[in-house]
Amino acid sequence: MSKLLIKNIKELVQVETSPKEKVKGKDMSVLPILKNAWLAIEDDLIVDFGEMNDWGEMNDWGGITDWADLEVIDAAGQMVFPSFCDSHTHIVYAVSREEEFVDRINGLAYEEIAKKGGGILNSAKKLQNTSEEELFNSAWKRLEEVKKTGTGAVEIKSGYGLSVEGEIKMLRVIKRLKEESDLEIKANFLGAHAIPIEYKENRKGYIDLIINEMIPVIKSESLADYIDVFCETNYYTPEETDTILQAGISAGLTPKIHVNQFTSIGGIQVGIKNNALSVDHLEVMEENDIKDLSNSNVMPTLLPSCSFFLGIPYAPARKLIDNGLPIALATDYNPGSTPSGNMPFVLSLACINMKLTPEEVINAATINGAYAMGLSKTHGSIAVGKKANLFITKEIPSVAYIPYSFGSNNIETVIINGKIVK
Ligand code: NIG
Ligand code: FE
Repeated sequence: MSKLLIKNIKELVQVETSPKEKVKGKDMSVLPILKNAWLAIEDDLIVDFGEMNDWGEMNDWGGITDWADLEVIDAAGQMVFPSFCDSHTHIVYAVSREEEFVDRINGLAYEEIAKKGGGILNSAKKLQNTSEEELFNSAWKRLEEVKKTGTGAVEIKSGYGLSVEGEIKMLRVIKRLKEESDLEIKANFLGAHAIPIEYKENRKGYIDLIINEMIPVIKSESLADYIDVFCETNYYTPEETDTILQAGISAGLTPKIHVNQFTSIGGIQVGIKNNALSVDHLEVMEENDIKDLSNSNVMPTLLPSCSFFLGIPYAPARKLIDNGLPIALATDYNPGSTPSGNMPFVLSLACINMKLTPEEVINAATINGAYAMGLSKTHGSIAVGKKANLFITKEIPSVAYIPYSFGSNNIETVIINGKIVK
């Protein structure tokens, strides 16, 4: 058994004594903190925590029964946070797309680039000729990179295959990442990410392929946890989205979908109707979208680094929270709209451009991100019995310093499943 004690922690952030699955509305501004604290870890689990002042009562220390082989970290001046849960990424892809970035600098819009064969279709073409091994290796590097910036759990989507072979290839890569990475990973099947060129005049043909050819293999090989659709003008209609989600649900997949990125066409309502775990993007929201979400359990998931990179509006996060809703924050890490998986930068953007407070963004990136991945019971906070996925900061003055000092690396030590990441 491995035992780890972190002592003299300046602030132990997001501590939980009674477990909650998410926080919403005004409660999002409450971030529970224990000052001058210690935290005990056995194997991969958090077994206890408390204040240094209670050190004398340490015989009560749950779990740890002897002091042999106990590793001690002195975190004087430093803070401990639960790892971020990045509930929306597309990190399996063949190559980067910086030529489109240059096209946009020169005045083309994301949608114009997509129309001339760039965008998602460009990534799909490149993926066709890339082996599982190559896809695995490049995605592995991206996972290792995001681990260093505090991420402990990642949702990964398919969606650059757009053929039976390509989608299954991507999902097998994600399955292997799940098996071999110490990060907690969830797989999301996004066969309906775009309409492949060869099906441009036969949309139904491709949707039939998703339903009759892809989903059965995904089910029999247990290749995915979730099902996603890009419900958007020029992509999938709400009716098509509904049909695809229902086929996924019949195969045991839970919906988590792309909606309202450029237009509000009813995607949120289809998500609610199908009990989606989350609806993601939400840059363009009508009053009725907000009202409908308020009467549901669906987690609105916002991706500010996508707005930053594409220069599109930011989702109305302030309005959602002020209407009593929860929000989760994620990166959307992908080669087209967000070539970055940096959660601290997402927090900074949400504070600066969405006018959220540091407490709100940390809740959105930890416990609410965990909810959006079905992981609230095991991740997203510092609680006894939860996974020891956390990071120790460098010496920093305050919690607000994390989003304030954008672009800086404030993390000194990352701990995943109770083990210090070298
Ligand atoms: O979430 N909006 C749809 N899909 C991705 C972008 C994919 C791409 O451009 O490759 C997104 O932003
Ligand atoms: Fe996305």
